[in-house]
Amino acid sequence: MDVKARGPKRSWERFLRTAIVALALCAGSVTASLPSEVMRVDQDPLRWTVNTPHSTYQVFVARNGELVQGYYGPLSDRRAAGAPGPGDPEIISSLREVPYRGGFMNMTPALEVIFADHTRELELRYVGHEVGEQDGYPCLRLDMKDTYYPLSVAEYIRVIPELDVLEKWMVLENTGDEDILMERAYSGSVVLPADAYDLIHFSGDWGREFFPRRTRLTSGLKSIYVRGVRSHQHSPFFFVRPTEDKDENFGTVWFGAVAWVGGWQMDFDVNRFERTQITGGINSWDTHWVLKGKSAFQTPKIVFGVSTDGSNGASRRMHRYLLDHVMPKPFSQQVSKVLYNSWYATGFNVNEKDQIALARIAKEIGVELFVMDDGWFKGRNNDRAGLGDWVADETKFPNGLNPLIREVNDLGMDFGIWVEPEMVNPDSDLYRAHPEWALHTPHRTAHTSRHQLVLNFARDDVKDYTLKWMDELLTKHNIKFIKWDMNRYISEAGWPETDPLGQREVRIRYVQNLYEVLLKLRERHPDVVFECCSGGGGRANPGILALTDQIWTSDNTDPGDRLHIQYGCSYALPAKAMVNWVTDDEWHGKTTSLRFRFHVAMAGNLGVGNDLFKWTDKEKKTAKELIALYKSIRHIIQLGDQYRLRDPFSENRMAVQFVTRDGRESVVFAFQTLETQPMATRGLSLSDRLVLLGLDPEGTYHVEGDIEPQEISGAALMASGVSVPLAGNYSSKVIILRRQP
Ligand code: DGJ
Repeated sequence: MDVKARGPKRSWERFLRTAIVALALCAGSVTASLPSEVMRVDQDPLRWTVNTPHSTYQVFVARNGELVQGYYGPLSDRRAAGAPGPGDPEIISSLREVPYRGGFMNMTPALEVIFADHTRELELRYVGHEVGEQDGYPCLRLDMKDTYYPLSVAEYIRVIPELDVLEKWMVLENTGDEDILMERAYSGSVVLPADAYDLIHFSGDWGREFFPRRTRLTSGLKSIYVRGVRSHQHSPFFFVRPTEDKDENFGTVWFGAVAWVGGWQMDFDVNRFERTQITGGINSWDTHWVLKGKSAFQTPKIVFGVSTDGSNGASRRMHRYLLDHVMPKPFSQQVSKVLYNSWYATGFNVNEKDQIALARIAKEIGVELFVMDDGWFKGRNNDRAGLGDWVADETKFPNGLNPLIREVNDLGMDFGIWVEPEMVNPDSDLYRAHPEWALHTPHRTAHTSRHQLVLNFARDDVKDYTLKWMDELLTKHNIKFIKWDMNRYISEAGWPETDPLGQREVRIRYVQNLYEVLLKLRERHPDVVFECCSGGGGRANPGILALTDQIWTSDNTDPGDRLHIQYGCSYALPAKAMVNWVTDDEWHGKTTSLRFRFHVAMAGNLGVGNDLFKWTDKEKKTAKELIALYKSIRHIIQLGDQYRLRDPFSENRMAVQFVTRDGRESVVFAFQTLETQPMATRGLSLSDRLVLLGLDPEGTYHVEGDIEPQEISGAALMASGVSVPLAGNYSSKVIILRRQP
């Protein structure tokens, strides 16, 4: 089956140029070999059962022809109850596989449309299915049609069995000639077995991203959402588990995320039958899509998974999902280079001489990638001017960027650079030439934030301009790393030159064009690593992770705060995607050792952001030793599995363990923030013991690092653990374990 053949060519060409497809779809074909152990099809009622090692998902056709979801949860041979008869339309309307506006409403709708004659109700019925594979993974396509109007809905369910993950998305096709207005087109929905659930989601603000929040889901609707194209307030990852379950390593957890970096929404709806529905996709606030005659629209993906080994198990599945199935290869399978970034050292005050001097010290301590941050382009002496004019500032770089890049390369390092392509300062040549390129609304204040406006990326001329200058920057210079920043929220999302209906497509077209620019740049420059930054972690979304290789976690680099931010972030992002720099920054004015700061940053993708000019020889030596240590263990951290051992939100400790996927090597980071109980009175305090996870119980491990070298069996390490005493405020230890041959 070729899904491309289902839509008109032009529309699919457009999609294929965007990463909605690259991420999402694998939009290609579903081949016809049936992996029967994963996907079973039964007749009467027609029913599909998806079994992964730890989960079961069932869909069946009700007697009135609607598609209804059966059981979704831990692996079960339980059969779906008999299909509701024609007399149960209310029950059916609480279990729809694709909930829509129409008939009885007992779910949060995933689809809301208005037909040309103003009818606002859908009546979707099953018309066919196909089971096969897509890109090597089992994929089910369920076809529905409206009973009267020319709308076809194809729901895709692609299964990644080894991770107990389902990806869902829809292709909506207008087979008629008249427009259909899509007021809402979410990506998919599931209904959990009747129980009382808690939702764990991640929210915060600038400088305090990814704080885990646990809340009871009671009758009614809980929504988390983003309206623009970035958000520090909410992350699109969710974990849902029975209210009484708390253990990190045991119990069932449903988890997932929406893969869309624009406005998205996730709804958790406990309906009047006490069933919890989870649905989400593109946020329909201030947004719709006109589905023209003979055109198709493909939603982004929503991902659902089931862990039977607690929230740690859910996180590990999500990490592997992102690393192996979302983030761009080959970088997602390789360790990242240790980078230096100039921002905290030089701010906007960059120039050739100082950057070269910094690069020399960076090389001395073992840095592999030297990144020049903001301030390098025309007129950029502060944040009031310059965005949009992407040529090297002549006073700072009289001979362009190449002399600096050559010097960095001669030192044996890659060179990287900061850009913020979606923005423009009113004080810039670009804005003076094209004021209409900024999002704006007539007769309304054009609000600036950080003195900048947002370019209307929905416009193809803006997209083309961005692609051109970025392509030139990468073609004319030996740049191997781009830090793509995005520093403000959208306001006045208007596009006066387009018609009233088109105005409400701006937020979708913006993201499509953003994806397209990134996709094309990656195609043309496959050896360039892209970092996604948005004033810190304002854009940590699987949608953008399909096109970028890592996330700048937070502008808050205070190591004490960072332990909390990194802990929350670790629920969703693999350590490789979570970039941490050591800096001089102390948000609370407290002093922590360089060693502590390094240890905190090493529990992810390590970078350095200090003012190296100020470092003593002793500090350089410490940094050099710790960077060398990091290089010897980074494959365990970045590409291994991660286990949260201690929660800094509930005690003054944080501990995290990484284990290679073969279980042979492991690293443990243990931190103490404030010492509440002095060492002398602690004795053999239980709080000093770390019970480890993920090791080979049959193996013997050599344990070394910041404790006495010793040999301990995997079974003992996972039963009684290892003592890692921490003394004093802001103390830390790194333990390395290697299985003996
Ligand atoms: C915000 C980023 O988060 C910082 O790391 C830095 O790149 C600044 N922008 C530069 O303006």
